[in-house]
Amino acid sequence: MQPDARQWSVQIEAALEQYLPVATAPGAEQLNAAVRYSVFSGGKRMRPILALAASSLIGGDVMHALRIGSAIELLHTASLILDDLPSMDNSAQRRGRPSTHIQFNEGVAVLAAMALLNQTYALLADCPHGRRLVQLACECIGHSGMVAGQTIDLVQPPGERIEIRHEHYLKTTALFRLAMLAPVLAAHGSKEDRDALADYGVCAGMAYQLVDDAHDLEADTKRDGDWDGLTPARLRENATLWVDRAKQVLNARFKDHPQTRQLGAFADWLVAGAQIAKAANQGTA
Ligand code: IPE
Ligand code: IPE
Ligand code: MG
Ligand code: MG
Repeated sequence: MQPDARQWSVQIEAALEQYLPVATAPGAEQLNAAVRYSVFSGGKRMRPILALAASSLIGGDVMHALRIGSAIELLHTASLILDDLPSMDNSAQRRGRPSTHIQFNEGVAVLAAMALLNQTYALLADCPHGRRLVQLACECIGHSGMVAGQTIDLVQPPGERIEIRHEHYLKTTALFRLAMLAPVLAAHGSKEDRDALADYGVCAGMAYQLVDDAHDLEADTKRDGDWDGLTPARLRENATLWVDRAKQVLNARFKDHPQTRQLGAFADWLVAGAQIAKAANQGTA
């Protein structure tokens, strides 16, 4: 995301520090420690980057975009804490360190996720058009969005038909969509802008999750037989189609904007480089 990447990264870290939920009640120190441990542990910050890019495309206010991006990063962090729990993916490690429930305990981890999620709604409510932003967040996070996708992830065997991956991948696409759409709602952008940016978010999210699954499938040979013919190569092939779609929807609406090229490059990176960055964070590359 050159040339803004370095500056954005500094701004995003500062905004996250500013907006981190902090309990002041004596005795709640473990909650604060678990929240901080989970938020500042080497995440790629893709969702705030997308929020800043979307805002820049439509000439939005950068401070609002930072607040929205932080809100979504806190929500993303909450989703990862819950995703790693024994009752979900049962992952003892996240970003090369013990997962939050291992470092603290399950109860504190669940409470940290709740504190982060609540802060998401509070931050969004405090933006222009806050009511609409909170409604959008409810749609993207709850039973029509990430929570539905995570449920499918939990109850379906991994090799379900590629056609229903759209619903399954709501676990990821819904937050990418939220990151692209929320800054445009806050800036009262046009319906055409909102549609194009929301579509880009869904397509980029599909591409990223397909590659994430291809990566997991390659790393875990035991699961090969369960995937019902879906090979890593097929998942990656499908991901490049979604990248093409992401670029098309953006070009159709924002053809000559410099940010369009950068978001195109970002979509390419989701398929070619993001997993390398994730592996490096996990200490495996
Ligand atoms: C991990 O997301 C969960 C998926 C959607 C696959 P990221 O790869 O964005 O995680 P961090 O925040 O950079 O670690
Ligand atoms: C996580 O998906 C998506 C959410 C937390 C909403 P995955 O389970 O595929 O992500 P990783 O592999 O644990 O990062
Ligand atoms: Mg999962
Ligand atoms: Mg997981």
